[in-house]
Amino acid sequence: MTSKSTFNPKSANKNLSFRTHTCGEMTPDEIGNQVTMCGWVNRRRDHGGLIFVDLRDRYGITQVVFDPDLAPKAHKEAEKLRQEWVIEVKGKVRPRAEGMENPKMATGKVEIEALEVQICSPAKTPPFPIYEETISVNEDLRLQYRYLDLRRDELARNFHLRHQIILEMRNYLSSQNFLEVETPILSKSTPEGARDYLVPSRVHKNTCYALPQSPQQYKQLLMVAGFDRYFQIARCFRDEDLRADRQPEFTQLDVEMSFVDVQHVMELTEGLLSHIFAQCLNIEVTAPFRRMSHAECLETYGTDRPDLRFGLPLISLTDEVEGSGFAVFDSITSGGGIVNALCIEGGASLSRKEIDQYTAFVSPFGLKGLAYMKKEGGELSAGITKFFKPETLRAIDEKCGAKDGDLIFFAASDFKTVKQALDHLRRKIADDRNLIDSAKLEFVWVEEFPLFCIDEETKELSSEHHPFTHPHPDDLDLIETDPLKVRSKAYDIVLNGIELGGGSIRIHESDLQAKIFSALNLDDETIESKFGSFLDALKYGTPPHGGIAFGLDRLIMLISNSPSIRDVIAFPKTKTAMDVMSQSPSDVSPGQMEELNLAWRKS
Ligand code: AMO
Ligand code: AMP
Repeated sequence: MTSKSTFNPKSANKNLSFRTHTCGEMTPDEIGNQVTMCGWVNRRRDHGGLIFVDLRDRYGITQVVFDPDLAPKAHKEAEKLRQEWVIEVKGKVRPRAEGMENPKMATGKVEIEALEVQICSPAKTPPFPIYEETISVNEDLRLQYRYLDLRRDELARNFHLRHQIILEMRNYLSSQNFLEVETPILSKSTPEGARDYLVPSRVHKNTCYALPQSPQQYKQLLMVAGFDRYFQIARCFRDEDLRADRQPEFTQLDVEMSFVDVQHVMELTEGLLSHIFAQCLNIEVTAPFRRMSHAECLETYGTDRPDLRFGLPLISLTDEVEGSGFAVFDSITSGGGIVNALCIEGGASLSRKEIDQYTAFVSPFGLKGLAYMKKEGGELSAGITKFFKPETLRAIDEKCGAKDGDLIFFAASDFKTVKQALDHLRRKIADDRNLIDSAKLEFVWVEEFPLFCIDEETKELSSEHHPFTHPHPDDLDLIETDPLKVRSKAYDIVLNGIELGGGSIRIHESDLQAKIFSALNLDDETIESKFGSFLDALKYGTPPHGGIAFGLDRLIMLISNSPSIRDVIAFPKTKTAMDVMSQSPSDVSPGQMEELNLAWRKS
């Protein structure tokens, strides 16, 4: 995807600078004009007479020529110039000599004949080159000198796009009567499933603020306040394990609406995303997006964020192979496990070695083997075919819809292991066999998530999203009897296998909210201390409401084709949550600790 040009370099100089032009706007129209330009020395080439300087700023690069015959003083100064020095040049625009034009550069038809040059500031030799398009420099070094890394066009472009996307979000939501409201950063814990970052209070000894994991309770309170439609570009903080698409502090586009149900939030989202893709990328998005229940999604793709740019669905074969005499499958199915398959078009040509490599690939997900069959000459053959009766083979063949030359992989284990392993295998095979059309945008709504789950650490009933999510109205009776079966009015928006956002219709009835807290085994004291004021607010006339939050960084990462979320955040943290540039987190003075009534434990 390429973004539409965001900024007009020409508008950058109007009365705002002592330069007359930026480095991105020189065209033959300017030939003969006197100009003043400022920027960084991208490269300097000394041709033993003429000195050429590529002058760079955010808008582009312009070539400046220092001629010892025309301007000897400026030429003398130019001899000193090195990479990344900041200079101001006065000169005259002239056409480049014949044959010297550079069609790759926007300014490639002209150059500046320097008359005067002033060195604004010299620069130390940068630890890595700035002007090369792709550099293979260790990321920690790039993060340590982030201000230099951000000079590289490859990275800087992402911030143009980020700016434009946020601008269009504001434009669209304002046009739909949304009000932008800021909510506190020093706040109280809102459960979103991660650990909180805490800030000890100096005034109120032995107490802490929590940094918001999201503005969830505040935005609901704004609905109680009658604000009707709210949004915020909100900074969120979550102390969790980091990945390529996770940062400890990240930005959400947070939205809440009153008097709405699921389809209204979906329509708003589809309108918003269509607007952004049209305005920022010139891409028409097809809405409404596909909708899939969480259960169907897990069953067919093994994950709640399926990449629908390719097929390769998981095929359930539990019924077909149950009791068929193949010991591996029989023992698993009789113990309540399942058997699923992936049918790979043209996969019969996979070598034994390649099949073994896929078997090794799924092993870390807990799968003890990866059986296979091939379809050749109209029959299933090879692999484990010999263990099955002809009628079972026919049933497998039919369910998989295998064609000659296909290969079927089988995974047998408990539900979670099979689904997780085949989700990874499905994506790996799609990658290996070039099944993914990278130009495709496949949006999908995943809805009807379970309301509760079992927390992996505590083994207790916990909220799948957050405890303010409205249960599915048909499942209210199950809250007390069979809570894990209760569906919710929660939804995620997924694009090409990445979860862009999630939200839900909220509980606006205080008695239902209390019932959920009690299902979560929270005692009255905990409910009162954690959510007392919130529960109280719901009793003062609460509109039915719901909303959604989009991971802004993730959206920009996807649109800019960046491999990491760090490429779209100006000053990100490393994978170990460090700011290597400022060396944060860092020690604090004994005096500050004393004021906060804190002491480090020795060990
Ligand atoms: P949720 O927890 O699903 O919902 O978060 C919404 C979106 O935020 C993004 N996201 C992240 N991005 C980068 N780094 C992280 N550590 C990170 N964690 C989450 C994801 C995710 O889809 N309060 C609810 C929203 C609501 O119910 O309205 C919430 O925060 O793209
Ligand atoms: P074994 O009896 O262990 O030699 O396994 C026979 C075949 O079943 C081999 O092709 C294994 O890769 C395969 N297999 C073993 N365990 C599983 C499993 N859990 N899921 C799928 N295939 C398996």
